[in-house]
Amino acid sequence: MSSPKVSSPKTSSPKASSPLSSPAPKGSEEEVLGQAYDTKLMLRLWTYVRDHGVLLAFALLLIPITVAFEIAQPYLLSVAIDVYITNHVTDGLGTLALVYVGFVIMQALCGYAQLYALQLVGQRSMHSLRLATYRHILTRRSAFFDRIPVGRLLTRMTNDIESINEMFAGGVVTLLADVVRLIAIVGMMLYLNVQLTLITFITIPALVILVRYARKLMRSSYRQIRVKLAAMNTHLQEHLSGIGIVQLFVREKATADKYDEINAEYREAYSGSIMADASMYAIVEAIGLISVAAIAWYSGATIGETGLTIGLVVAFIEYVNKFFIPIKDFSAKYAVMQSAMAAAERIVGLLDTKEEDAPMRTADASITGSDSFAVEFKDVKFSYREGEQVLKGLGLSVRPGEKVAVVGATGSGKSTLIKLLARLYETDEGAIFLDGQNILSLPAGELRRHVTVVNQDVFLFKGTIADNVRMGNPDASDDDVTDALRRIGAESVFKGSLADSQEENAVDIHLMIEDRGDNLSAGQRQLVAFARALVRDPKLLILDEATAHVDPKTESAIERGLDALMRGRTTLVIAHRLSTIANADKIVVLDHGVVAETGTYDSLVEDGGLFAQLQKSFSSHQSP
Ligand SMILES: Nc1ncnc2c1ncn2[C@@H]1O[C@H](COP(=O)(O)OP(=O)(O)OP(=O)(O)O)[C@@H](O)[C@H]1O
Ligand SMILES: [Mg+2]
Repeated sequence: MSSPKVSSPKTSSPKASSPLSSPAPKGSEEEVLGQAYDTKLMLRLWTYVRDHGVLLAFALLLIPITVAFEIAQPYLLSVAIDVYITNHVTDGLGTLALVYVGFVIMQALCGYAQLYALQLVGQRSMHSLRLATYRHILTRRSAFFDRIPVGRLLTRMTNDIESINEMFAGGVVTLLADVVRLIAIVGMMLYLNVQLTLITFITIPALVILVRYARKLMRSSYRQIRVKLAAMNTHLQEHLSGIGIVQLFVREKATADKYDEINAEYREAYSGSIMADASMYAIVEAIGLISVAAIAWYSGATIGETGLTIGLVVAFIEYVNKFFIPIKDFSAKYAVMQSAMAAAERIVGLLDTKEEDAPMRTADASITGSDSFAVEFKDVKFSYREGEQVLKGLGLSVRPGEKVAVVGATGSGKSTLIKLLARLYETDEGAIFLDGQNILSLPAGELRRHVTVVNQDVFLFKGTIADNVRMGNPDASDDDVTDALRRIGAESVFKGSLADSQEENAVDIHLMIEDRGDNLSAGQRQLVAFARALVRDPKLLILDEATAHVDPKTESAIERGLDALMRGRTTLVIAHRLSTIANADKIVVLDHGVVAETGTYDSLVEDGGLFAQLQKSFSSHQSP
C-alpha cells in the first residue's frame, strides 16, 4: 500500500525479523526497528479496525473523488487559457471560473470528510485496542509482572497506542492517497502530451536515488531516537518514583546531570533526523524546480509544434508542483509509519505473550460445604527462576479452624508459600490441597473468593476508606464497613489523628486515601486491610504479618484486630509478632524452603532447635 519507492525489500534491516513470539531481552525492545509496512502486523491491527470498516471504506472511497477534483483544476486552467484567453473569447469564461472554484471547494470538502472519517476510525479502533491490551495485562500471572517492568507496560498503553493512532491520520491511508494522486497526475500528463511528460520526468532517477538514501538515513536516526527516548523515560520513571531516596542522599544534582547526558544524546539523535528531513525537503524542492525548468526549456523551443500550447505548459507546471508536494512530506509520513509499525510490533508482542503467561487454567469444580478449610501442602517444589529453587519439597497441613503460625528467617520462602496457595504462581512439583481438592482443579475466581490474603505491605487505592474496604465485598453497606472497622478496633488508632471532628469512636469511612495510601500510617493501612479481609468473610485467611514496627498503642490495636479477624477461621499466618506466635495452635518453622520443625510454642522452645534461636528475635519485637 505504501508508495512504490518505499517498499524495496532489499534495504529492510535484518532486525526486521522481529520478536513476535520470543520476548526481546530487557532494554532492547525499543531498538528493534521493523519495516515501515508489515502486512502481518497490519492484519493483526485489522482486528480492531474491522468494526469500523464502513467508516474506513467511506474514507477510502473519498480518495479517488478528492484526487479527481484536484487533478481537474490545472486542466480547466489550460482550457481557459487556450480556448478563451488567447483567443480573446470571454463568453463562458465566467462559467468556467465558477466550475473551477466549485472544484476547489469540493476538493476541500472531500478532503475534510476524509480526514475526519480517518481520525474517527483511528480513535475508535485505538479505544478497542487499548481496552483489549489492558484486559490482557490484567489477566496475566504474577510471573509476567516479574519479567516486564510496569513502566514498559505503561509505555505500551500510552505512547505505543498513540503512535499507531497517528498512522490513521497521517500514515497509511494518506500514503495511499498520495500514490493515487501521483498516478493520476502522471496519467493526466501523459494523456495531455507524452513528449513533454518524458522531458518533465527526466529528473525521476535522481529522485529515486535520493529517496532511497534519505530512507536509510532516517531509519538510523529514528532508531537512535527511540533508544534515547526509552533511556530518558526509564531514567525519569526510576528517579521520580524514588525521589525520596534521591533527596535523602542528596543526589539531586547527580541525577539531573545524568539526565542531562541522556537528554543531550536524545537531542543529537533528533538533529540527525532533522538534518535528513530538511535536506530531503530542500533537494526535492530543487528537483521539482529543475523539472519546471525542463518544461520551460523544451516548450520555449517547440511551442506551437506538436500541439504544444501555452495553456498546456501552464497546466504542466501546475502538475509538476502538485507532484512534488507529497514527495516533500514523504519523510514525515515515513517516520509516522515506521514508528507505528514498531509500536504495533511491541503491542502484538505483548498480546501474544507465551503460554507461561496465559491466564489460569480453569476447571468448573467448586468448593462446597465446610465453614472453614483444611489446607495441605504435599512435597511442594517451586522456583521463580530456573535453577534457584525456593521451596524444596515442602509439606504442611492445617486442620479446619486451626491457627498455624509460619516462622523462618528472611528469604526462607514464607511469602512464596502464600503466593502458591493463592495461585499467583503454580507449583513446579507436588500439590496443594484445599478442603481435600487440588487447587489446580479449582477456578482461580472460586479459589480467591474463599481464600483471602492480607499482604506484608498493604496496598490501598486512591478513594475513600470505605471504597478500599469494599474491595473485599462490593455489597458491603456503609454500616457493614463501619462495623468491620469497629470489630477490627480501628477507631482508637484513627482517632486523634484523622477523625478529630468525627463523633466519638468512629472512623470517618469517607476519608480520602491518596495514591497508595500515603496519607495513612503503616498501622492504619494495616487496619484498613484487616477490615477489607473481614468484610469478605473468607473460609481461609492468610496473613503475611508486616515486619514494620509500630508504636505500642497501635501494636495492641493491631493485635486485637487480628484476633477479631482470625476468630472462627482457618488461618495461616506468617508471623513476626510474638503474640501471634504464642497464640497459634501450631507453629511451623521454615528453613531454606523446607519445614524444619513443627510443634506448639512450648514444645519448640523446649526442643531448643531452630525456633529457639529465632525466638530471641521475636522477643525483641515484643511490645511492652
Ligand atoms: N518475584 C520473585 N522473583 C524471583 N525471586 C523471588 C521473587 N520473590 C521472592 N523471590 C526469592 O525467593 C526467596 C524467598 O522469598 P520469600 O518472599 O518467600 O521470603 P520470605 O520468607 O517471605 O522473607 P521475609 O521474611 O523477608 O518476608 C528469596 O530468596 C527471594 O529472593
Ligand atoms: Mg515475606
